[in-house]
Amino acid sequence: MLFQTTQEHEELRAKIRAFAEAEIKPVSMELDQTNTFPDEIVRKLGENGWMGIPYPKEYGGAGLDVISYAIAVEELSRVDGGVGVILSAHTSLGTYPIAAFGTEEQKRKYMVPLCKGEKLGAFGLTEENAGSDAGGTETTAVDKGDYYLLNGGKIFITNTPKADIYIVFAVTTPEIGTKGISAFIVEKGWEGFTPGEHYDKMGIRSSSTGPLTFNNVKVPKENLLGEEGQGFKIAMATLDGGRIGIASQALGIAQGAYEDALAYAKERVQFDNPIGVNQGISFKLADMATKLKAARMLNYSAAEMKENHLRYGKDAAMAKMYASDSALEICNDALQIFGGSGFLKGMHVEQAYRDAKITTIYEGTNEIMRVVISSYILGKIGKAHHEGSRREIRKPAPITGIRKGIIFRDGDAGAQVEALVDALKKDYDFSVTIPMDTPITQAARVVSAGRGVGERENMQLIERLARAAGAALGSSRPVAETLKYVPMDRYVGMSGQKFTGNLYIACGISGAKQHLKGIIEASTIVAINKDPNAPIFKNCDYGIVGDLNEVIPLLIDALGGEEDKKPAPPMVKIKRPKLPKPSPIGPKYVCLGCGYEYVPENGDPAAEIPAGTLFEDLPDGWTCPECSEPKSRFVQE
Ligand code: CAA
Repeated sequence: MLFQTTQEHEELRAKIRAFAEAEIKPVSMELDQTNTFPDEIVRKLGENGWMGIPYPKEYGGAGLDVISYAIAVEELSRVDGGVGVILSAHTSLGTYPIAAFGTEEQKRKYMVPLCKGEKLGAFGLTEENAGSDAGGTETTAVDKGDYYLLNGGKIFITNTPKADIYIVFAVTTPEIGTKGISAFIVEKGWEGFTPGEHYDKMGIRSSSTGPLTFNNVKVPKENLLGEEGQGFKIAMATLDGGRIGIASQALGIAQGAYEDALAYAKERVQFDNPIGVNQGISFKLADMATKLKAARMLNYSAAEMKENHLRYGKDAAMAKMYASDSALEICNDALQIFGGSGFLKGMHVEQAYRDAKITTIYEGTNEIMRVVISSYILGKIGKAHHEGSRREIRKPAPITGIRKGIIFRDGDAGAQVEALVDALKKDYDFSVTIPMDTPITQAARVVSAGRGVGERENMQLIERLARAAGAALGSSRPVAETLKYVPMDRYVGMSGQKFTGNLYIACGISGAKQHLKGIIEASTIVAINKDPNAPIFKNCDYGIVGDLNEVIPLLIDALGGEEDKKPAPPMVKIKRPKLPKPSPIGPKYVCLGCGYEYVPENGDPAAEIPAGTLFEDLPDGWTCPECSEPKSRFVQE
């Protein structure tokens, strides 16, 4: 097979490379350092007709092929991996579902401005409990006649909050698994829809990534994409194409690092010779060039298959996996060639090294790519679940474990606060206090502020509450790191301080996984937040949905104010409520070979049989985990 790109492909490459060198290169370092989205560059991508490359001209696209699109992402990423993914997420995730599954009306309304670059697109699939297991979607869309009512949240969404149009996946029919998921077109600006602030990331810092929150968002019926229940397939089919985009991004990042390393190997002299004469260096470059070629061939081949409407899911997964694994190796080798100079900030190779990492993670981790590829090769072996009840059974426990989950909703804010304080007083004495600067890891109680606190002056309110509750002061990571309202050693979370004391009062904290991982050991978690869908409410013992400015002053009073507190005695850890024992859901079965007991409430995790699977629903091929006897050798207890 002689595979070659066409002259048109290479002309497009030259054009986009020239643009990237002239417009992106000079600002790339600054965008990276300041975590800034390149509005102006994205606008120019649109002007050049590159925001809808593989889509028909009649819908505002350039009418070119999928390889042309891959080349565009590759060339932008060669200079800046962040800019590359902006185009990729916009084109293959934000626009493709409309192009492939939209009605004529939806295409006219949404595709045209997307392809012209007048609007930016995004794809909202990932959730706290639905990452690799995309079918675990918990966001709901309830049919209300004229519209769907959307509630829930998404995380890690590329192009948030800049995007204007979001493809959002939500459950329309609960408890039937992936077949109950539907896709919707959701516009920024709709009431109740909040695209969150972008995260502070390790790499691709010129692109923005953030959470989405849906709080009773009314989605018009005509914005259902495809049919009800088709959402999971739309997501999967979209990701097949998205993976070509990520392979292109990885390829571009690696190409840039390789070219820099090659130039450096020729110019850097040691022992009287350019370092490239050493086999330690030249062999690295030979490997890098080979991997680049292999990755490019895989990717263009997948793109060509897509263009020709062949089944390309496996090939796209192979391209994404290989290109991104190789990109990490290539960037690592490139940085090694640069030696100490490559380790300095401001060096493109240093940025490429960081940018490359995400390509092995998003649009399906490379572990999931291997699942996809192997399922094409082997078929879906070991798929034990019966689709209907799978999601119901596997509902994951909240990150902070089983909690009371009592949200006070009755009466006005005063009544809710009173009920909260009554509940807390059963376990806590609020006539005692600890110094507010007690290290988080040693504090019995902590009052923490999240982004929801708003302006810096509101921190006074949080400090007052800490005094009234006899607690130390804490925060979420952005409040310490980005807003700098408190010192860095006061933020609680996976990468910060772990709170293992008794009472944790989270004020304006939405409850990102990273934060919740820092409070798993807390005996009691109280959440105060105005967003009823904030994940913190699924992870709390007590909660009040309301405005901090209204709730906290009432709480301070109800706790007896800030004054006249005695020093607290040494902390005695309060025990957490015990996990309720699952009630029996079906008969147990005993293995005649070894006496092993199959308990349906436990399932068989080692064989990926979810808890809650009845014996009769076990797949025929299932065998005893102890002695491998077949299912037929089990008897009911
Ligand atoms: N195209 C169309 N339909 C597909 C499909 C595909 N590629 N893959 C699966 N399906 C269909 C199946 O045929 C099945 O339908 P039927 O029951 O009618 O046959 C249905 O979908 C369910 O399939 P599975 O049972 O295989 O589903 P699963 O729950 O086991 O999941 C998985 C399979 C491959 C692991 C999938 O969950 C997956 O791809 N996970 C990774 C998710 C992912 O890539 N997330 C990335 C988020 S986006 C992102 O990262 C963007 C960014 O930032 C840039």
